[in-house]
Amino acid sequence: MSKITAAITAVGSYVPDFVMTNKILETLVDTNDEWITTRTGIKERRILKGEGLGTSYLAIKAAEQLLEKSKLDPKEIDLIIVATATPDMMVAATAAYVASEIGATNAFAYDLQAACSSFLYGMSTAASYIESGRYKKVLLIGADKMSSIIDYTDRTTCIIFGDGAGAALFEPNSEGLGLQDEYLRSDGVGRNFLKMDAGGSLLPASEETVKNRQHFIYQDGKSVFKFAVTNMADSAAKIMERNNLSHDDVDWLIPHQANKRIIDATSNRMGLEDSKVMMNIQRYGNTTSATLPLLLSDYETQLKKGDNLVFAAFGGGFTWGSIYLKWAYNS
Ligand code: UT7
Repeated sequence: MSKITAAITAVGSYVPDFVMTNKILETLVDTNDEWITTRTGIKERRILKGEGLGTSYLAIKAAEQLLEKSKLDPKEIDLIIVATATPDMMVAATAAYVASEIGATNAFAYDLQAACSSFLYGMSTAASYIESGRYKKVLLIGADKMSSIIDYTDRTTCIIFGDGAGAALFEPNSEGLGLQDEYLRSDGVGRNFLKMDAGGSLLPASEETVKNRQHFIYQDGKSVFKFAVTNMADSAAKIMERNNLSHDDVDWLIPHQANKRIIDATSNRMGLEDSKVMMNIQRYGNTTSATLPLLLSDYETQLKKGDNLVFAAFGGGFTWGSIYLKWAYNS
């Protein structure tokens, strides 16, 4: 009997309509289009507007697009994982609500949080359930409403992040396609460099924390940049080496969209030409858990069965790593 691998068999995505351009940000903080473009590669990002709409709204839309495209009956889904750093609420699992709303009445569901590496880690989790034979259809959704934790008076963070969601369905494959190898790491030294101080068990919400703006993201950008550049490039290089992949063998790099300079450093280290590097940071900014599935969705029509894909991500915690996956279908 051939080994069961976990393949991605469908993708979907959603970004909200409102486009927050660099020009709009110029009216909010002391910044300019030239600085943002040269330092990050970002030109615009999407923001979810409207009362009472949380991350679940984005996740549901992405899942619904996947269901529609793939003609999958939601009742067949065994498990839904929502990878997110901005759940609807601290306690009630966002994924459970998403599952009910899309009609996945036979699924169980939970959230997974590893900051910007949430989707990457989620790929490992989803694939493990499939490889073990325990479940047949696992829907992994990466979704974040970053605008809910961004301080639009802080020019060091508000120019970077945006809202969005992407979804990927994992199913068993007997042709050897799907997830091949992973190299995942974390280091708690990072928790002081990229964080939201208040609202967790360490510092519960109070009048004081609100007054001190501690429910917004704080980032020591320069330090995070150094760790991110080194670790994203190292882990991608390691995955290539471990699997005897030369730059010619790699068809696509799917890098977390945090900063174009970090993406360029990673692809240079891998020896890849730009045409093999997926990039949409200019349109969406950093959507945290949604960057990788948004790329898959945007580039889906260019992907061919058997293509070698290398994913790489880095995020708060610190969390980071790389995954090697063989694409399983032509669209
Ligand atoms: O996704 C999770 C992981 N996150 C990342 O990977 C993000 C990693 N970090 C970065 O991408 C970059 O560090 C940033 C884009 C956040 C910042 O770029 P940088 O090149 O590291 O800039 P910097 O923080 O060193 O700041 C350079 C200068 C400073 O001015 P002085 O001290 O040189 O006078 C800042 O005050 O740029 C200034 N600055 C800005 N100027 C205009 C900082 N933010 C802005 C801004 N507009 N928005």
